[in-house]
Amino acid sequence: MADFGGYQYEIYFDGLRGVVPRFPMSYEGWEARAQAAMSPSVWSYVSGGAGDEHTQRANVAAFLRHALIPRMFVGADQRDLSVSMFGLTLPSPLMMAPVGVLGLCTQDGHGDLATARAAAKTGVPMIASTLSVDPMEEVAAEFGGTPGFFQLYTPTDRDLAASLVQRAEKAGFKGIVVTLDTWVTGWRPRDLSTSNFPQLRGNCLANYTSDPVFRAAVPQSFETDPGASVLHWAGIFGNPLTWDDLPWLRSLSTLPLIVKGLCHPEDVRRARDGGVDGIYCSTHGGRQANGGLAALDALPEVVAAADGLPVIFDSGVRSGSDVVKALALGADAVAIGRPYLYGLAIGGVDGLVHVLRSMLAEADLLMAVDGYPTIADLTPEALRTVAG
Ligand SMILES: Cc1cc2nc3c(=O)[nH]c(=O)nc-3n(C[C@H](O)[C@H](O)[C@H](O)COP(=O)(O)O)c2cc1C
Repeated sequence: MADFGGYQYEIYFDGLRGVVPRFPMSYEGWEARAQAAMSPSVWSYVSGGAGDEHTQRANVAAFLRHALIPRMFVGADQRDLSVSMFGLTLPSPLMMAPVGVLGLCTQDGHGDLATARAAAKTGVPMIASTLSVDPMEEVAAEFGGTPGFFQLYTPTDRDLAASLVQRAEKAGFKGIVVTLDTWVTGWRPRDLSTSNFPQLRGNCLANYTSDPVFRAAVPQSFETDPGASVLHWAGIFGNPLTWDDLPWLRSLSTLPLIVKGLCHPEDVRRARDGGVDGIYCSTHGGRQANGGLAALDALPEVVAAADGLPVIFDSGVRSGSDVVKALALGADAVAIGRPYLYGLAIGGVDGLVHVLRSMLAEADLLMAVDGYPTIADLTPEALRTVAG
């Protein structure tokens, strides 16, 4: 069993020889340092959301309305955070959510590779976005023994979709996450006010420009004429899928198929009936719809409707305590978004490993102190609803 909480002793013992941590120890610190490290346009893109960003704040605030009740005389000396899903055993329920501009978040411009390397070092799986600076094959080559997942933005060109999925299978990804809430970009005033959209500037399109189907449609090379690729990409990027498309999506691969962006129990039931292998409950971090629903508030009904299918959760997770609360509300795995890309920004692989280890340590130590030694012990009864 991994001793995630042991990270604190490493830090305290380093202190005995005068060494204090290179990186901040809290989300607020990672965020502030990341803002200083990033260009204003990348910062605006990663930190902003849809509309007046109410949903983005609601995602975070929802965690404050749930409190874990401490239990005593449990002797939670050993904790087991391991989970099994999709035929895999993972050391912890933590995952890295798909983020389409990782490549731009590190100083060397290869944040996708850095994330894959951090996955290898920590055992925390990366869900690699379709939008990346380095092609998926190069990203997957850095995973070491940690399984990775490929997130598909389904293009309108079905042959291209099939090609991307086949490449992911061949590259060794262990599952396909299809994101359903982003066939069109949400209204994002922060980015609109500076006309800032990274992909239209030719960024993060490597999975397209390295694809044989995409290249056949755009004879001009990306290097000499990026505008032709960008124009074609903008035309095929988003497919407004309907339930009629689910059998086709399902047929693309024998890998586990997970659908991302589900918050309504009826959608979960239909997806389940349509043969998906996992449900990903998310409000895209409030970047897409500013409709006001916090993802955490949708989670219990999603879990009930999933009826035993694995549920991955994200949106608003900022700490190890948040991870524990999402597990108690029924998530099988909890993905983080902004915290890890801030880790990347402040220190590349090392900064990201620090963020992941910090979140795991906090979750593990909370389970120790409050007397919940295993994930099975974390049930809704472990929580009380409190004023936010
Ligand atoms: C800058 C940025 C880019 C993102 N790109 C993608 C993406 O390419 N694919 C996807 O499915 N979700 C994407 N997401 C959404 C994340 O997967 C996740 O749902 C979200 O970050 C969770 O919210 P949080 O970061 O506030 O916790 C992105 C999020 C951010 C912040």
